[in-house]
Amino acid sequence: MSEPALRLSILGLGTVASGVVRILTGPDSPVSRRAGRTFDIRHVAVRDASKSRDVEIPADRITTDWNAAVSDPEVDVVLELMGGTTTAREAVLAAIAAGKHVVTANKALLAEHGDEVFAVAREAGVCVAYEAAVAGGIPIIATMGCSMTGNRVVSIEAILNGTSNFILTGMLGEQRQYEDVLAEAQDLGYAEADPAMDVDGTDAAQKLILLTQLALGKKVELNEFPRQGIDTLELADMLYAEELGYRVKLLGVTRVVGDQLEMHVEPTLLRLERAIAQTDGALNIVELHGDAVGPLVLSGAGAGQMPTASAVVADLVEVAIGRAQHTFPQLNLWQDDSGLSVMPADQIQRRYFLRFNVEDKPRVIADVADILGRNEISLASIIQHEAPEVEDAENGGTPIVPLVIMTHRTTEGRIRAAESALAELSTVRAPHIRMPVAD
Ligand SMILES: NC(=O)c1ccc[n+]([C@@H]2O[C@H](COP(=O)([O-])OP(=O)(O)OC[C@H]3O[C@@H](n4cnc5c(N)ncnc54)[C@H](OP(=O)(O)O)[C@@H]3O)[C@@H](O)[C@H]2O)c1
Repeated sequence: MSEPALRLSILGLGTVASGVVRILTGPDSPVSRRAGRTFDIRHVAVRDASKSRDVEIPADRITTDWNAAVSDPEVDVVLELMGGTTTAREAVLAAIAAGKHVVTANKALLAEHGDEVFAVAREAGVCVAYEAAVAGGIPIIATMGCSMTGNRVVSIEAILNGTSNFILTGMLGEQRQYEDVLAEAQDLGYAEADPAMDVDGTDAAQKLILLTQLALGKKVELNEFPRQGIDTLELADMLYAEELGYRVKLLGVTRVVGDQLEMHVEPTLLRLERAIAQTDGALNIVELHGDAVGPLVLSGAGAGQMPTASAVVADLVEVAIGRAQHTFPQLNLWQDDSGLSVMPADQIQRRYFLRFNVEDKPRVIADVADILGRNEISLASIIQHEAPEVEDAENGGTPIVPLVIMTHRTTEGRIRAAESALAELSTVRAPHIRMPVAD
């Protein structure tokens, strides 16, 4: 091979970094042949140098000083695989300042500080590659950044959090409650010890922000669009959805509507026949719609050691070949030149699934329908089963029954106004459930 070895500093030797080392150092690895050069792992920075590792790195290459690893003048590329947004930000900025290209899997860092990181990288003439930061092994960044450059992206609909999808699949498939399946996901290593960001929708929203930025050149903040996780979902509502011909998924949506951008991450009802509704377990899926190519679907492992390492190594090869150095400055990432504004939540239009717990007595359905009607919400269907009935002890033993309503298309603003009025009805018990329907 005529090119000199590419010299690397790897920050972290956890799940993802160990997978990267395994691919780069494995016997018969095709990576060097494809890159046209070998890889020389000069430094691996960790927190605890005494920890036993499941990949072999010579002891003199392990350090607890990430600063030394990023500032070594002999290093060409820094792989940031430690996670978090504080030290990782410092380390990435230090690497860029030292003239290194950066490969990262850190969506939290880029969703929060992407504008800063990309601006300083552009100024320093180095590139930042982040295929592994969104949807694990699915090559979505390359698809959007290279293969779809002839398109205006019209919409993105995606399952971007494998943990949530694993939990939803388990709840429905085995008729189990949320907490029960979450505990199993933690035992199997799908969910973190603290799974809050996975199950409250934050992780999926961060990834959707990165995809939206790349596809549409629009920087959106986490608090600018509706975000709800699966942590308040009940099996009963998933079963009602099935009865109506829909499956509930934690869906991230970005859609261009005129000069506005509709965005949300929420448990959403999808028609059973859609590929996205049939994406089960820890898998991710991204459905893109480009104005030239039409619909495009990519699905695969959204996390896990080797799928994520596959994406990191793909970025590394792009840098080794020199392609990333050409494409990165041209992509103008994190420059907000789209002219799009984020649609206020109240203006978002779709159909809704609503479930109320109501007193089982005359006029209740009429009262609920009346309030919805006064807010110009028209009803597509209503389900009220005879059982199960739960007696409300505080209310003289009046039975309480679930009332499920599917609306026609309406705005989120009208739904919210109706909800406020419904909260005033003594016959309707809080809380109630509201989920959008994706058409
Ligand atoms: N795991 C996945 O499936 C997955 C998928 C997509 C993206 N990602 C992203 O990939 C990144 C890494 O995730 P991971 O699951 O591999 O994490 P991990 O298993 O927790 O590994 C983190 C590694 O970073 C090291 N580290 C942390 N702070 C450090 C510091 N201040 N100085 C030096 N080393 C430090 C740790 O050292 P010790 O080993 O000594 O503690 C550990 O080796 C994250 O940004 C994550 O969001 C992960």
